[in-house]
Amino acid sequence: MCGIVGYTGKRKAIEIIVPGLHKLEYRGYDSAGAALVGTNGIDLHRAAGKIENLEKSFLTSPPDRNATTGIGHTRWATHGAPCVRNAHPHLSQNGHIAVVHNGIIENHVQLRARLESRGYVFKSDTDTEVIAHLIQEFWNGSLMDSVSEAVSMLSGTYGIAAVSSDEPDTVVTARKGSPIVLGDCKDECIAASDVSAIISHTNRVIFLDDGDIARLTPGSIEIRNPEKTMVTRPSTVVDWDPGKIEKGGYEHFMLKEIFEQPESLENAIRGRLIPEDGTAKLSGLQLGPSEIVRITNIVLTACGTSYYAGLAGAYAFEQISGIPAHIEQAAEFRYRNPIVAPDTMLAAISQSGETADTLAAVREAKRKGALVMSICNTVGSTIAREAGRGIYLHAGPEISVASTKAFTCQVAVLAMMSVLFGRSRRLSNADGTFLINAIASLPELARRTLEQNDAVKSIAERFAEASDFFYIGRGYMFPAAMEGALKLKEVSYIHAEGYHAAELKHGPIALLDKNVPVVACVPSIPGCGKTMANIQECKARGAPIIAIATHGDERIRSFTENVIEVPECPDFISAIPVAIAEQLLAYHIANIRGEPIDQPRNLAKSVTVE
Ligand code: G6P
Repeated sequence: MCGIVGYTGKRKAIEIIVPGLHKLEYRGYDSAGAALVGTNGIDLHRAAGKIENLEKSFLTSPPDRNATTGIGHTRWATHGAPCVRNAHPHLSQNGHIAVVHNGIIENHVQLRARLESRGYVFKSDTDTEVIAHLIQEFWNGSLMDSVSEAVSMLSGTYGIAAVSSDEPDTVVTARKGSPIVLGDCKDECIAASDVSAIISHTNRVIFLDDGDIARLTPGSIEIRNPEKTMVTRPSTVVDWDPGKIEKGGYEHFMLKEIFEQPESLENAIRGRLIPEDGTAKLSGLQLGPSEIVRITNIVLTACGTSYYAGLAGAYAFEQISGIPAHIEQAAEFRYRNPIVAPDTMLAAISQSGETADTLAAVREAKRKGALVMSICNTVGSTIAREAGRGIYLHAGPEISVASTKAFTCQVAVLAMMSVLFGRSRRLSNADGTFLINAIASLPELARRTLEQNDAVKSIAERFAEASDFFYIGRGYMFPAAMEGALKLKEVSYIHAEGYHAAELKHGPIALLDKNVPVVACVPSIPGCGKTMANIQECKARGAPIIAIATHGDERIRSFTENVIEVPECPDFISAIPVAIAEQLLAYHIANIRGEPIDQPRNLAKSVTVE
């Protein structure tokens, strides 16, 4: 969603801010802007739509190139339409203060009314503008003090960066529920809503904690906690290679990330498999066998693609670990007052680690006394930190809005957890070794699936004009079918439904005809024979079949010539090669249709509002 960049140093601020905003484009946005502390006060630039529009506006209204301090923002509209008036930064009434904000101010209506009664005139429909006016209201000559007073009035979530013409060479940032990261550079300071905007300047970063306020001046950082005490937050070295956040020669980030999966899976399992003991070592869990054995119930929670990874994970926990497990949508978990039995473990799954509903589910589970852990990709993200214990995916930055490599790494991590938990119970050493060796083969399985790229592309050419798709599967292929349909919807805008293969005949089969292709997820795992029968039912209604089936399975050829082959593997990890095949299919269909694959309309990479 929204992105923040702030800079103060010796260089031209606009030349740091705009490239930084480009690095945050992957988050999804619909307007952009920047405010510089210029020689004649705050120099404000905003544009609706892409950052290119902002850059074009510089031709008619050049930014102050002498300014060495400033803030920038990419906005994903929540309050008010995506237009220039609502784009960030927002100015205080006197024009001396500029603010950018991620998150939602829940009491903005009340604050607005109070400020209006004191003579403030609002220029936008946003919740953010109250912050700029509040800082003016509390102004005491110190931007940090005034921001501190202003944020004490706010309820909701925020990541904020502010500058003032009355205190040049200073950027003040604050966070509650929306991340702010600081780049720890020598003679300058950079702040951003995520490390992608910082990494080309430094890999040494400081994550603010909730409630922190930081004052950045060239080369120095001062942080205060909510009690207004000066604190030091640790500096973390982020091992992202800046080149990794470029497209690396691929046409789209999505394709690059699909092809990165042999490597990302390798990174997700590296050092975590102990084949000789038939188990996994997941130290981030901070749980020994005697603690694991006491867990009697596992609740997984997540949103979107991560939810479908969790669904596959729940099956694995029950099948392999013998522990009752189920997945709940995080938005449901947080509000429906779930029963958390003693010895329940809540596993929150989130690529970004910032999804609002998943974070709220973590907090609710903690309140109810569950043992909480997270499975996140983004190191230092809020969910990872609040959960306290967890497993990082190590999938590397995922830039494309549609999640690909994070999904397969999530399933891999859940598979490792299932084996580890199973070894505290009924899983023998020999069976554990078999499963661990299967997990070890995941990078190779991914590599072999990617060899199908050309075959998938020609199938995509045959079906790119369709306007409806069904994806079907059962067992581990049910989550795979759901995820395949989601992927196609996200990037191609084609209506697609994922359905349990057996459920199709209870209604949706009425929609099938020769214009509605059915993608059948039917690798050779238990239950596939039943799905074959369901394929026949679809075929009888004239629906064209695209099958994702195990290499060498000749039965499927009697149903269709549109076969995407995946290598043979045990059922508990079969969603991984099948998902890779589905990702390629969705990608090629979207590409043929000419859609903006990496940033689909209306979607955001990280959804930090409920
Ligand atoms: C958004 C993204 C999805 C993602 C979901 C959950 O909707 O567009 O790709 O699956 O959020 O995100 P998370 O970061 O929590 O996995």
